[in-house]
Amino acid sequence: MTGIRLTAPAPGWAIDADVVVVGSGVAGLTAALRCAAAGLDTVVVTKARLEAGSTRWAQGGIAAALGEGDTPEQHLDDTLVAGAGLCDEEAVRTLVTEGPDAVRRLITTGAHFDTTDSGDIALTREGGHHRRRIAHAGGDATGAEISRALVEAVREAALHTIENALVLDLLTDAEGRTAGVSLHVMGEGQHDGVGAVRAPSVVLATGGMGQVFSATTNPSVSTGDGVALALRAGAEVSDLEFVQFHPTVLFLGADSEGQQPLVSEAVRGEGAHLVDADGVRFMLGQHELAELAPRDIVAKGITRRMHEKGTEHMYLDARHFGAAMWEQRFPTILAACRSHGIDPVTEPIPVAPAAHYASGGVRTDLRGRTTVPGLYACGEVACTGVHGANRLASNSLLEGLVFAERIAADIAEVRPPRTEPAEASRDADDLVPLLAPEARTAIQRTMTRGAGVLRSADSLATAAEELEALHREAAADAETDGAKAVVPGVDAWEVTNLLLVSRVLVAAAGDREETRGCHWREDRPDRDDAHGRHHLVVRIAPDRTPVVHRTETAAFPPVRPSD
Ligand code: SIN
Repeated sequence: MTGIRLTAPAPGWAIDADVVVVGSGVAGLTAALRCAAAGLDTVVVTKARLEAGSTRWAQGGIAAALGEGDTPEQHLDDTLVAGAGLCDEEAVRTLVTEGPDAVRRLITTGAHFDTTDSGDIALTREGGHHRRRIAHAGGDATGAEISRALVEAVREAALHTIENALVLDLLTDAEGRTAGVSLHVMGEGQHDGVGAVRAPSVVLATGGMGQVFSATTNPSVSTGDGVALALRAGAEVSDLEFVQFHPTVLFLGADSEGQQPLVSEAVRGEGAHLVDADGVRFMLGQHELAELAPRDIVAKGITRRMHEKGTEHMYLDARHFGAAMWEQRFPTILAACRSHGIDPVTEPIPVAPAAHYASGGVRTDLRGRTTVPGLYACGEVACTGVHGANRLASNSLLEGLVFAERIAADIAEVRPPRTEPAEASRDADDLVPLLAPEARTAIQRTMTRGAGVLRSADSLATAAEELEALHREAAADAETDGAKAVVPGVDAWEVTNLLLVSRVLVAAAGDREETRGCHWREDRPDRDDAHGRHHLVVRIAPDRTPVVHRTETAAFPPVRPSD
C-alpha cells in the first residue's frame, strides 16, 4: 500500500460509525439506506447538497428487463455487445438478473416512474438496446425523481448526513485496513474544517470525473475525488481509458466549458434523426441501428461527419414530434434548449459529443470490494466489469442500485469491528504536493486536446508531457521554502485530484494501442482482438508514478477479499 496523502491539516474533529458512505447519488444513498436498515451506524458524507451530483442529471432512465417478452438474457446480450469484448460476463449477469427486482424495490422506496394508460411502467429505447427497456420518470427527469425519492427516504430514516464535505483521504489502521476517511467540511454546522469519520467500512460512491475535460455533461462536483483517493490509498483502478462521450450534447459554441446540457438518447429512441447541415441522415448505413447504434459508434459517426464537413456540430431533428409530445415527454430538454434560444419544435437542435461517463474506475469484485480491505466502491466511481469498453445506455443507474445493495449485504454480513486509525505520517515524501487552482483549465484543455474523442500516440504523448510538467512544478514548489507552495483548500485539493486521475487515464490510453469501445485511436483505427483483449489495471507507485499492468485475458482478475 502506498499510503500517500493530500497535503492537508491534521483532522481537528472526529466522529465514529460502522460505515461511512461517500456520495449521495443513487449508489451512495441506496448503500446508506440498506446499511442503516441492517442496523449499522451509517454516516453519509457528500460534497455539496444531498441532491447534487450526477444522478439528478440523468435523463433517459434506468434499463431493466421489465417489459413483456424481454428477458435478462437479452439485456445481457446488448450489454456485452456495447462493452466490445471487455465486459465481465458474471458481473453483467448479476446486473441484469438482479436489476428488475432492484428497480421494483426502488419503486417501493418511493420513486414514481412514468406509466402507460394500462398502468404498466412505460419503457423507451436508447442506443444499443434491441428492445424498449428503459424506465423513465417525469418524461426526461428520471435521475431527479430517483434522487428525490432517495433523499426523502434518507431524511425519513434520519440518517446522519454531512453535506458540503470534500473527502480527502482514506484512514487506515496499523494493519493497513480501512479505518475511515479524512474530510473537509465547508461552512456552518456541527463539524467544520478538516475532520475525520472513523469507520471500518468505507463505501466510495463519489460519481465520475467528467471535469477532467473542458466540456462535459457532468456537474462541477465530478472531479474524480473517489478514484484519486483510492489510488493514493494503494487501490487498483481499471479501464480508465474508456471515457464515454455522449453523442448528443447541446452545442453552445466551441469555447463553451464546464457542464453542458444533455439531449437524452431517448429523444433518438422516440424517433429523432441525426442530420448534417444539408439535412442528410448520415448514420444510415453506418450501423443496422442507425441513430440507435451503441453510443461510441454514434459519437464517432458525428465526429467523422463534423471533420468531413468542417463544422463544429451536427443536428438532431425532432420537429416531427410536435409541441405536445415535446412538452409531455421531454420537458427538461425542451426548457434547456429554449433557455439557449433554440426551439426543438420548430428547428433542429445543434449537438456535438462531450465527455459523459467513466466506464472504468476503482476495481471491485461482485460484492463491491476493492483491493484495499474494508474499502468498497459502487456507481460511476467503481469498475465492476459491467461496462467493459463502453457502457450501454441507462445501465449506470441500475449498476449503482444493484451493486450498492450487494455492498450493504456484504458489510452487514462481515460486520468488521471498529479500529483506531494509525497516526498519519507527516513525512514530506508521503504528502502529495498541491496544484494551484488555476491549473484546472490547463488540465481540462490538455485532456480535451490529447485524450478526447479522438486520440493518437502523439496526442497522448503530448498530453502526458504537459501533465507531468504540472506535476513536476507542484513538486518543485513544495520543495522550495514553501513561499510558492499552494495553501491547502477545496479548489487546490480538487485540481490535485484532477491531475492524478488525468495522469492515470492518459497512461492507460497510451498503453491501449487499438480502437475499442469508446477508446478511439486515430493511429490504430481497428479493434485488435489478438492483442487487446485485456484490462489495464493501474496503481500509483510510492514515487506517485502510474504503473500500468495488463491482465492476462479479458476476464476480470479476482480482487483480494476484504477481511
Ligand atoms: C441519456 O439520457 O442519453 C443518458 C443516459 C445514460 O447516460 O445512460
